Amino acid sequence: MENQNLQVLVADAETALKSVSTKSQWEQIKATFLGPNGSLTQFAKGIGSVPKEERPAFGKSLNQAKGKVETFFKSKLTHLEDLEDIKSLGECIDPTLPASPTFSGGLHPLTKTKRRIISIFRKIGFTVAEASEVETEWFCFDALNTPDDHPARDEQDTLFFPSSSEWANVSRKKKESYLLRTHTSSVQIRTLLKEKPPLRIIAPGRCFRRDTVDATHSANFHQTEGLFVDQNVTVKDLKGVLDYFLRELFGGKIETRLRPSFFPFTEPSFEVDLKVPDLGKLSNKWIEIMGCGMVDPEVLGLVGVDSDEWTGFAFGLGIERVTMLLHGIDDIRHFYQNDQRFLSQFSSQV
Ligand code: DAH
Repeated sequence: MENQNLQVLVADAETALKSVSTKSQWEQIKATFLGPNGSLTQFAKGIGSVPKEERPAFGKSLNQAKGKVETFFKSKLTHLEDLEDIKSLGECIDPTLPASPTFSGGLHPLTKTKRRIISIFRKIGFTVAEASEVETEWFCFDALNTPDDHPARDEQDTLFFPSSSEWANVSRKKKESYLLRTHTSSVQIRTLLKEKPPLRIIAPGRCFRRDTVDATHSANFHQTEGLFVDQNVTVKDLKGVLDYFLRELFGGKIETRLRPSFFPFTEPSFEVDLKVPDLGKLSNKWIEIMGCGMVDPEVLGLVGVDSDEWTGFAFGLGIERVTMLLHGIDDIRHFYQNDQRFLSQFSSQV
């Protein structure tokens, strides 16, 4: 009988606690069970009327029931205090503090420069052309009017794929070899074979050379090629387009000059020098920025374009070089080391 009553008391305590949501309610309910006049206390007082031999069992059941009820109250109190802590933490948030950083990745600085270059040329009617990084010797050199003995063809500079016949003592020069393109100029040839002039393309992409890696050289790097073929294109058009491009990239106050140079696929050929008023240590100094020239009639002839009707200009620039100048980066290796401390500096820049 006592046992049954005790079980009801325990169940009552559990139910009563469910509706408790504040500490003062908790105190009140606790008093009704465990306080001096609480039901459990009162129940314990009944021990006097229990026959002597049943008292130990009565005491045991009573203690077990009391233990259970106390545990309910304790865990409810912990829960209430946790809620209080959470609430008070919420109330002391300082809205003037900067938000915690949420770095969700960003574009690589080279990708950003590439996109900037593309968007500048798009505005004046250039489209993007792409071709494979694995090329044949013909596309990379022969069709670009590069003689057999040109140093760029030397294996020191070019990464060739060995062909099975080469291993059998057949000279590379006698056989058509595959290689990793050493420049994006091969895209000029691929485009001229596919499309008829007039055309304006830029061809950004990855290139490879057998270079020993240092602060300014990498065996793997990126270039952007440009090709413009139309009727009556002159050096004046070349200069106008490149000046526009460099002004967009480096600001309106730049100066440029064309310096005579040599490339096998352009005649005449030039290096473009650039002077920028605010470029850190390089401010107001002439910097060599890119190669260019008028497409050699030999090249047009090789791909079946009538050079009496069509003329054009071409240019090529290093994407790493431009990015290094724009951001004052002093070592090309930063681009490939995947160091968050370097890369995250570019994540918010457009
Ligand atoms: N292909 C040259 C290089 O890798 C760069 C170049 C120079 C490209 C002059 C051109 C050009 O289209 O006209 O150094």
